[in-house]
Amino acid sequence: MCGIVAYIGNKEAYPILIKGLHRLEYRGYDSAGIALLNGGLSVHKTKGKVSVLEEHMKDFDKSGTIGIAHTRWATHGEPNTQNAHPHYSFSRKIAIIHNGIIENYSTLKKELINRGYEFHSDTDTEVLVNLIEDIQTKEEVNLEEAVRIALNQVIGAYAIVILSQEHPDMLIAARKGSPLVIGIGENDFYLASDATPIIEYTKNVVYLDDEEVAILKRGSELKIKTIKNEEKTPYIQELEWNLNELEKGGFDHFMLKEIYEQPTSIRDSFRGRLHPDKGTVSLGGIIDYEQKILNADRIIIAACGTSWHAGLVGEYLLEEIARIPVEVEYASEFRYRNPIITENDVMIAISQSGETADTLAAIELAKEKGATVLGICNVVGSSIARATDAGVYTHAGPEIGVASTKAFTAQVTVLTLMALRFAQLKGTLPKSEYVRLLHEMELIPEKVKKVLDDNGLIEEIAGKFKDSRNFLYLGRGYNFPVALEGALKLKEISYIHAEGYPAAEMKHGPIALIDKDMPVVFIAPNIGIYEKVVSNIQEVKARNGVVIAIVTEGDTTVKNMADYTIEIPETEEMFVPLLATIPLQKLSYHIAVMRGCNVDQPRNLAKSVTVE
Ligand code: AGP
Ligand code: GLU
Repeated sequence: MCGIVAYIGNKEAYPILIKGLHRLEYRGYDSAGIALLNGGLSVHKTKGKVSVLEEHMKDFDKSGTIGIAHTRWATHGEPNTQNAHPHYSFSRKIAIIHNGIIENYSTLKKELINRGYEFHSDTDTEVLVNLIEDIQTKEEVNLEEAVRIALNQVIGAYAIVILSQEHPDMLIAARKGSPLVIGIGENDFYLASDATPIIEYTKNVVYLDDEEVAILKRGSELKIKTIKNEEKTPYIQELEWNLNELEKGGFDHFMLKEIYEQPTSIRDSFRGRLHPDKGTVSLGGIIDYEQKILNADRIIIAACGTSWHAGLVGEYLLEEIARIPVEVEYASEFRYRNPIITENDVMIAISQSGETADTLAAIELAKEKGATVLGICNVVGSSIARATDAGVYTHAGPEIGVASTKAFTAQVTVLTLMALRFAQLKGTLPKSEYVRLLHEMELIPEKVKKVLDDNGLIEEIAGKFKDSRNFLYLGRGYNFPVALEGALKLKEISYIHAEGYPAAEMKHGPIALIDKDMPVVFIAPNIGIYEKVVSNIQEVKARNGVVIAIVTEGDTTVKNMADYTIEIPETEEMFVPLLATIPLQKLSYHIAVMRGCNVDQPRNLAKSVTVE
């Protein structure tokens, strides 16, 4: 989950590394560190954000054209300076940065302690660097070989970069399970956990594969080998994202920028795929698997967090529109409960980052049992994108805010396209209705724009409820997952306790919580089982609850009952989640800002959870 940056070339490394760390800070931000080599190998580390490290570095020599840097999200050992990366080896000749977990670290550590090694941190990472050093001395092999031997002994996940005082012209990097991208410059190399620190220098990148080791030498071509010492030819790809997409572009926070990007990101998700005039939907990425899907016994959707919520919307869509049975699973539960999976199952794994460890494990399990696995990912070339048989990218652009917004609506857009595509192939909808739905979908970005233009109403509501201690979010049908997502957004960034529930379930328990201090957010568009939701609102009002309702433009029934109403344009029921989610994102955002919370980097969270 940490952010890794490294550089070797003829430019000054420090500015590149520190800027890269800022870009990767969304991945982890409990401590940061940097190692530079200029004559001697010097490591500097601080607890807290990258800005603290930057301040600290003011007093030190920052010269050097080779270096490694890290922003941490602790797994082993508390977030303090000693545990921050880079870690020196025992002799202080080698420094390492690491993202991932070495699962057998305690056995390895015991052996190393018996051999006289001393440790200065509680991390698994320090064990790995000492293991490398031990192998190098014990077996009298060069550093590259020692790294390979060590990685063959390691169980777990890693993306590592190694800098050695004895090799001032070389970096060694390797990965398994955690991402690592190598940027190929004119006369230099850039390494990072994702492409964001690299993109302003070069668009040519190589995504390292699992169990591959890269040897980056100043003035030489990139060399890649597997940990079994087989040579690999680097596959150079061109990055699609541009730098503007990575900056805040005038917004106070990335999250707000990303909320406002949704008209564009939703359109980008269906661009070239939705053809209302031809009455078709095409999904090139999964075309070879369509028959398999149509013949499948069922679809299993596996995901975590917000992506899991998108999966729930997908269940409603695929079952209703395409009439395919769907089960939605928390990837973390699925992987450990010996699920029944057969070759006739199709799994759809959903992930913004494409790096979520639990989702990756669920994919591996489904593959082992012979199921076909498709992905819905945002990050091109990510581990999940590569682990799946085929898939559909969401094309939402980089999402930097830790709380997912535009990635969610893009995932729902892709799931909607999938449902429509399978409906087309199965002929589950009359042609005229089908074409009408496609035309309506094309209008969604414009309608999202309208929702975003709320004239300050949501900010005003946020002001009224910013000090509430609890929130309830209720919705039915397609809007039940929207309620869950609304509650998660509020929890994540404002630290207010919030729960999402199917509106009708309220009377089976949560109704006990209702009193005059409990704001209840209803997603109550004038479509589907509207009347039933109206009854649920009445039940809350009868107990003096405060109701904030998302309603269809022009609604009067709910307006007369609710304390606050936020309108969304009229649309087909299946598209409502794409509109109704937007005010909930904005409500959480404004409440969090008013409470003084760190919106883009909420406490205890990280953008991609690459550990269990
Ligand atoms: C979203 O706001 C969360 N921070 C989190 O629940 C996230 O959706 C989850 O960790 C899954 O991530 P992924 O989509 O990158 O796999
Ligand atoms: N296991 C390492 C540590 O605790 C890296 C953590 C990570 O990648 O999240 O420092």
